[in-house]
Amino acid sequence: MLSGTVTAAAVDYRNHVNPQWVRLLDVLAMNEKYVRCEGVELYTADDRRILDFLSGYCVHNAGHNHPRIVAALKHELDASGPAMLQSHVPEAAGVLAERLCRLAGGGLSKVFFCSSGSEGVEAAIKFARARTRRTGLLYAQGAFHGLTCGALSLMGDPFWSDGFGPMLPGTCQVPFGDLNALERAAATRTYAALFLEPIQGEAGIRLPEPGYLAGAQEICRRYGTLFVLDEVQTGMFRTGPFLAAHRFGIRPDMVILAKALSGGLVPSGAVLMRDGIYDAVYSSLKRAIVHTSTYSENGLAVRASLATLDVLEEEALGDRAAAAGDYLRGRLRHALSDYEMVKEVRGAGLLNGIEFRAPRQLKLRLPFEAFQAIHPGLFGQVLVMRLFRDHNILTQICGNNFMVLKAAPPLEASEQQLDAFVSAVTAVVELMHSAGAFWTEALGLARRVVNI
Ligand SMILES: Cc1ncc(COP(=O)(O)O)c(C=O)c1O
Repeated sequence: MLSGTVTAAAVDYRNHVNPQWVRLLDVLAMNEKYVRCEGVELYTADDRRILDFLSGYCVHNAGHNHPRIVAALKHELDASGPAMLQSHVPEAAGVLAERLCRLAGGGLSKVFFCSSGSEGVEAAIKFARARTRRTGLLYAQGAFHGLTCGALSLMGDPFWSDGFGPMLPGTCQVPFGDLNALERAAATRTYAALFLEPIQGEAGIRLPEPGYLAGAQEICRRYGTLFVLDEVQTGMFRTGPFLAAHRFGIRPDMVILAKALSGGLVPSGAVLMRDGIYDAVYSSLKRAIVHTSTYSENGLAVRASLATLDVLEEEALGDRAAAAGDYLRGRLRHALSDYEMVKEVRGAGLLNGIEFRAPRQLKLRLPFEAFQAIHPGLFGQVLVMRLFRDHNILTQICGNNFMVLKAAPPLEASEQQLDAFVSAVTAVVELMHSAGAFWTEALGLARRVVNI
């Protein structure tokens, strides 16, 4: 650990949970002990104040430990109501479902609750099969849908699936943005559903070309394939509107939400869908619990989700995300425009990415290539490490595109906090383009990582 002494609990974690994770944080000089997290700010045991520009991968849309969400949870616990009775009607889940459907619109009228994004994807796979009586599943290149076996079967990057196979049969990957490829696949009429992130997150904050999502929806309708949007990262006002679908005027058959749904404090997920899909699953009394999960509809998750929606709506954090995103991208584009290794700044609302590219100048190309040869993800990790260590900014690169750095703070991020991020990134990018020390340290890190 960097700060303070290593506690017995930290040793327990290392011994009994995930030692490799601890080693990775150590190597990246990111193994901090956090003592308090509030809004966009994280405070460490050694008195550092770190700005969170990752938001737990889009969990903390309402900021860390929002007092209203914390109060709602305390209230729920104090009420000593039925928790996990599994033998009653949890009415608050009905209130939440009605509200989610109202916010989503587009004919989505039923909700299946669960506890994670992956579990939502699993449910959507089963429900799509039940509705269409088809087994095939379409997904996009670069997608990230979660790491349970079904969700993993909808992800093409072998890094995630190697050693865990076989995956589900009958899946087919199509390039994100290619309507012809989609139509060729869908025309076989063997696919139950197309799963898409409307803006691909881990693929590098990839925005769809104009017309792609509407076109994909149209093709799905034509061939009887359900159009399923994974809004686990893009939903809950992250890009401005409640769903990213609303940016593109599309009407998905199912929408998967998780992460930010319950304010980052209780695991929670939801699959919104049309009546017909739900009815195909819960088609008779006998099938009333044919698909369920012990902690779905649990009181704490539901209360936290309702309070999260209160916060996001009453504080108008969607509008805030839209305006702050425009401001942030404008400032970043201006500050980074002269650096040859910066390819593009893009995003929507407060889901943003800065894409880097290989340098042309020989003096930069040689160390960059040496570095890439050791591991393609390490260049981005050095950026992440420098931002964290030298500038107190927490962020990460995208899981399926190591050349894209994320900028996704809680939606309440102030102009001052956005400015601090821009200054930090600019300083690191300047160093990368001008100082040999950046590359020497980077290569040192690369060797350490490869050797452990
Ligand atoms: C778009 C998307 N879908 C699904 C998931 C899986 O969610 P969970 O980790 O809650 O299972 C993730 C996780 O990062 C995600 O980004």
